[in-house]
Amino acid sequence: MKKRIFSGIKPSGDLHIGNYLGAIQNWVALQEEYDSIFCVVDMHAITVPQDPATLRKRTLEIAKIYLAAGIDPKKCSIFIQSYVSEHAELAWILNTIAKIPELEKMTQFKDKSVKDGKESVLVGLFDYPVLMAADIILYDTQLVPVGKDQKQHIELARELAQRFNYKFGETFVIPEAYTKKESENIMGLDDPTKKMSKSAKSEYNYIALSDDAETVRKKIKKAVTDSGSEIVYSDDKPALKNLINIYSLLDNKTPKEVETLFVGKGYADFKSALAEVIIQFLEPFQKRMAELSDEKVLKILEDGAKKVQSIAKKKLEEVKKKIGFIV
Ligand code: AMP
Ligand code: TRP
Repeated sequence: MKKRIFSGIKPSGDLHIGNYLGAIQNWVALQEEYDSIFCVVDMHAITVPQDPATLRKRTLEIAKIYLAAGIDPKKCSIFIQSYVSEHAELAWILNTIAKIPELEKMTQFKDKSVKDGKESVLVGLFDYPVLMAADIILYDTQLVPVGKDQKQHIELARELAQRFNYKFGETFVIPEAYTKKESENIMGLDDPTKKMSKSAKSEYNYIALSDDAETVRKKIKKAVTDSGSEIVYSDDKPALKNLINIYSLLDNKTPKEVETLFVGKGYADFKSALAEVIIQFLEPFQKRMAELSDEKVLKILEDGAKKVQSIAKKKLEEVKKKIGFIV
């Protein structure tokens, strides 16, 4: 039996290369070896207010990103979370074993409470990690390939799975996060102490997957660097380290190999080469995305939902029986 992986992304904003490198690039590699399920998590997206037409458009866009990045629907199941109602049902059941302090200590909730005040946090956002736990454990997932910021959520999924098993008997597989050191936390181009983020104030923080060549060149040129002039990969030079990581992950080289390429050269040479490496990835990717019709993608999503639904239904039935529901 192949091991199962599950992951998802919210259709709530433009994706950037941090999302691609931290999550999707790993999915593409892992699909060869694992039984893979990838989800567009629209129910997570609505934990902050969304415009309905935009949500619909972005949901399809995320699916197109998965496909254009190389996720192969013949090898994996790709689907929309809200198509499979078992996610919401299991989340409700998990709510009855999750504790308020466990959710209060989640970074996402704490950040939002500090930023906008606790009064403005919706119950759905508070409960977000429980729905994510349901997504994962519904499918007996073993590995969850994500960026570093999601590890805390996976810890909670593990905790809830263990708690349920303890209370009601062996039911869920205990999942683990899958990350890679070089890609789990791609930092902002304008500030290498903070992660690259779509909610950053300046667009010079990130390279969006939709950026054109000129924008990429402009943004990389403006990216902050460290003192010194040599291209070296080291913890003392966090800005450069981040740029070398991006280069190496997109050009399939080790950071050492990238260093070697630029011996005797300076930041300007390195930055213009990096911009071209990014463009060489983005241009064909964007072309593949543009070629995907909505109809074709919807059909793939429907087929994906059908494939996963039988797994979800079976697991939920087992859960319902164990807790005493008449099924
Ligand atoms: P998001 O849409 O930002 O919630 O993230 C979607 C996926 O991308 C998740 O697996 C995140 O952990 C990952 N991710 C987001 N930002 C970064 C980043 N700066 N570096 C690496 N991975 C990231
Ligand atoms: N919380 C994740 C993010 O913001 C998205 C997500 C929802 C997810 N459910 C998931 C990721 C299940 C992995 C597995 O990126």
